[in-house]
Amino acid sequence: MSNYPFNPVTKALPATVPFVGPEAQERARGRPFKARLGANESGFGPSPKALEAMQAAAAEVWMYGDPENYDLRHALAAHHQIPPENIVVGEGIDGLYGTVAQMFVEPGTPIATSLGGYPTFNYQMAGRGAAIHTTPFVDDKEHLSGLIELAKQTRARLTFLANPDNPMGTWWDSGAVLEMIAHIPGGNILCLDEAYCDFTPMGTVPPIDITDRRVLRFRTFSKAYGMAGARIGYAIGEASLIKAFEKVRNHFGVNRVAQAGALAALGDQTYLRKVISNVELARERIYSIAAENGFIAIPSATNFVAIDCGKDTDFSDQILAGLLERDVFVRKPWVAPQNRCIRVSVGTDEELDLFAQALRETMAAL
Ligand SMILES: Cc1ncc(COP(=O)(O)O)c(C=O)c1O
Repeated sequence: MSNYPFNPVTKALPATVPFVGPEAQERARGRPFKARLGANESGFGPSPKALEAMQAAAAEVWMYGDPENYDLRHALAAHHQIPPENIVVGEGIDGLYGTVAQMFVEPGTPIATSLGGYPTFNYQMAGRGAAIHTTPFVDDKEHLSGLIELAKQTRARLTFLANPDNPMGTWWDSGAVLEMIAHIPGGNILCLDEAYCDFTPMGTVPPIDITDRRVLRFRTFSKAYGMAGARIGYAIGEASLIKAFEKVRNHFGVNRVAQAGALAALGDQTYLRKVISNVELARERIYSIAAENGFIAIPSATNFVAIDCGKDTDFSDQILAGLLERDVFVRKPWVAPQNRCIRVSVGTDEELDLFAQALRETMAAL
């Protein structure tokens, strides 16, 4: 392997696989999970209208997708009441981060983010050789003024904020985010990840300002729209910044089935509202299950809940192992002190019943 002519960045990266999916875990265990509550997907699924549109588009899958994502971009523009020139569609937020890294990062480019924040942003930046600087969460929330300070100190080119964040599900209100944006240093762009924005209380999501050259916002069809496997998301930003994506993005990256599904899903806001209310109920249920076991759930504005298991990472590891053993797939935050928690995605009533029983049994066994 060492003889291959890798570029220096790839050569220097660790050989470990950063993302181990539930499928790999199932293969290793030799049996499937009964409840899939670890990847912040939507067990409620996509709108039936999206399913229908995707089924129809499947017959046309011999054709490349429209590289301009024209219909979807125009529908998104109408939805957000902004021009289509301010929107770029890509292979999920994760795919768009790869394009952002390609556009802004060269070996050594400083990036400011939160220690233990959403890892795929870092992964894409590291793949281009970024120097990743972090500041810890404070009170289980990303630290807005800490991020700004870090961006200033390190002369970061990009700053990352997920609002609400993953893995804790905590959030800042619109006023706090706007205050942060006002303090972004010159030469820096805030990558504002709003993957979970559909689940947030009123007053969380700042109004879209397409003239603001300091912010790129990221949205997805993976969460509330229930289409994680379709790999489709979009970024919103100032028009000349969005136009620059054309230079490097994977123009045929979004397949036509995903485009058709997303378009139909966007058109079914009634279904979206139903999912959001299902998610709220499921979150409440997870809070109660946590309380029944003597744990405190951290209030969440997402489709998952971090449950504070009250001790250290060894203890939450044991709980996680007990749940996995009982065929319930969940995950946990990856750095201290957040790794005292387990992270449980919302699911159907049946899946949450399985989680409740598995947690009860695990705690009895411990
Ligand atoms: C904060 C955050 N951003 C982005 C994503 C991934 O979005 P996508 O499926 O559009 O790549 C996730 C998924 O867990 C997430 O938690």
